[in-house]
Amino acid sequence: MKKIVILVSGRGSNMIAIAQACRRQGWPAQIVAVIASRPDTQALRDASELGLNTRVLDATGSTDRAQYDARLADLIDGFEPSLVVLAGYMRILGDAFVDRFAGRLVNIHPSLLPAFPGLRSHQQALRAGVKIHGATVHLVGRELDCGPIIIQAAVPVLAGDDEQSLAARVLRAEHRIYPLAIRWLVEERLEFDEQTVRLRAQPGESQWLACFDTFEDDAAALSADHAELRSASAPRLTGALR
Ligand code: GRF
Repeated sequence: MKKIVILVSGRGSNMIAIAQACRRQGWPAQIVAVIASRPDTQALRDASELGLNTRVLDATGSTDRAQYDARLADLIDGFEPSLVVLAGYMRILGDAFVDRFAGRLVNIHPSLLPAFPGLRSHQQALRAGVKIHGATVHLVGRELDCGPIIIQAAVPVLAGDDEQSLAARVLRAEHRIYPLAIRWLVEERLEFDEQTVRLRAQPGESQWLACFDTFEDDAAALSADHAELRSASAPRLTGALR
């Protein structure tokens, strides 16, 4: 049984998606702790409601990042996790922390990395005028929002989108790909080196699984022309996930 520690800072919707998938799909894994960088977060309330073990290591007012990171790492190590999942964890982690959990530290970022790292990725995407945006699950490297990519989800950027509507569309995709990536990790279905991740495909599956698009789900929002264009295009790459 693999042990998972999830780090949160706020809303916690990805934490819930992972916890529910873990239970419903009977992963060979257990969430041993949800650790928050702030007290009184929605994530903590929901984690408790789900019966998960919660801890708070309050970062408010902490100025010495290395010291905070070291305390956090010790707290995490106490649970002996094989996987540490950043789920809306809003603190930058220093090199020592990242090195200590190398290969078992995973993050989700709301953009198609390497595009739009850092804060306000949806605003960045809208300003850049991209037509496709999305989310990326990756192993954590030393640089901000970098590291070998496990899976990405693409969503359309629609006319009239603002940050909120785009964020909501991306978040729905996040809730699908993050649990899937964590499941692959606990089932040891991924091979990775410093740059790339490969899924050990099972019969009937392909590497395309790591590429997930929600365009069909969003079809209603697309113009008739666009929908026509799509229906004339190649079959879906990700049908196996449905
Ligand atoms: C998500 O958009 C995630 O990609 C980003 O922070 C947000 C967290 O949302 N890293 P939640 O706390 O999981 O609801």
